[in-house]
Amino acid sequence: MDRKERNQLYEHAKNWVLEAGGFIRESLDKPLTINTKSNANDLVTEMDRNIEKYFAENIRSHYPTHKLLSEEGFGDDLTTLDGTVWIIDPIDGTMNFVHQKRNFAISLAIYQDGVGEIGLIYNVMEDILYHVKKGEGAYRNETKLATLKKHVNLEECILLINNIWSCENARINHMKIQELIKKVRGTRSYGSAALEFAGVAEGILDAYISIQLHPWDLAAGVILVEEVGGITTQIDGKPLNLLTESTAFSGNHLIKDQVINEYIELK
Ligand code: IPD
Ligand code: CA
Ligand code: CA
Repeated sequence: MDRKERNQLYEHAKNWVLEAGGFIRESLDKPLTINTKSNANDLVTEMDRNIEKYFAENIRSHYPTHKLLSEEGFGDDLTTLDGTVWIIDPIDGTMNFVHQKRNFAISLAIYQDGVGEIGLIYNVMEDILYHVKKGEGAYRNETKLATLKKHVNLEECILLINNIWSCENARINHMKIQELIKKVRGTRSYGSAALEFAGVAEGILDAYISIQLHPWDLAAGVILVEEVGGITTQIDGKPLNLLTESTAFSGNHLIKDQVINEYIELK
């Protein structure tokens, strides 16, 4: 993808994300239809669907050869990341959207032949846009993000981890995860993977581990974290596959090696 094409794509993507954020903010006072998906806590609203539809229609009318991988059913069934692929989560943190009306984000990434070129994570209620064009720096609004610190001292780390790790069916050694939680300075769970990746990229959070993420939860965050010198892999250190659900580790290389080698034992 040449620079001119990427800049044009970025401008479209950014404008659509900001406009979609405006639609969501305007909707907050209106009644909301809430449904469930895979289980009673897996929520979806008509806003999730409307926003995804808005992106799908815009992408198809401006870029008919591009593909879309997304959560709510308006995307394509993809078996490869060949070509230009938009990966979108219209609302990441739907439970926060429903219960708190804040702490959720729009996550949009554009990949070219499997390589992340553009990433946008929009914290809708705080009007903070994290954005990156590969090789051109990562930003929080207009402020360029610094390269991640290269420290490895887990005792000084804030680790993002959620309670899914304590579930019976999480196929990991729970005792080791408890040791990791005791080792770090503190843990956090924000309920929006995209905002959690953004926090790692910003350097205000040191590492993120998740037992189950979908491509649209992490596609933009991965590009953002990589741009500031971090890395995202599966929790056994293997590379991510953006076509499937997977586990994830994100943070600096030294913390990754320590967490994965000393605290992750898959069953
Ligand atoms: C969820 C959030 C949450 C993460 C879940 C995701 P959704 O996305 O990112 O933080 O722990 O794994 O599914 O359903 O709100 O788009
Ligand atoms: Ca999500
Ligand atoms: Ca979502």
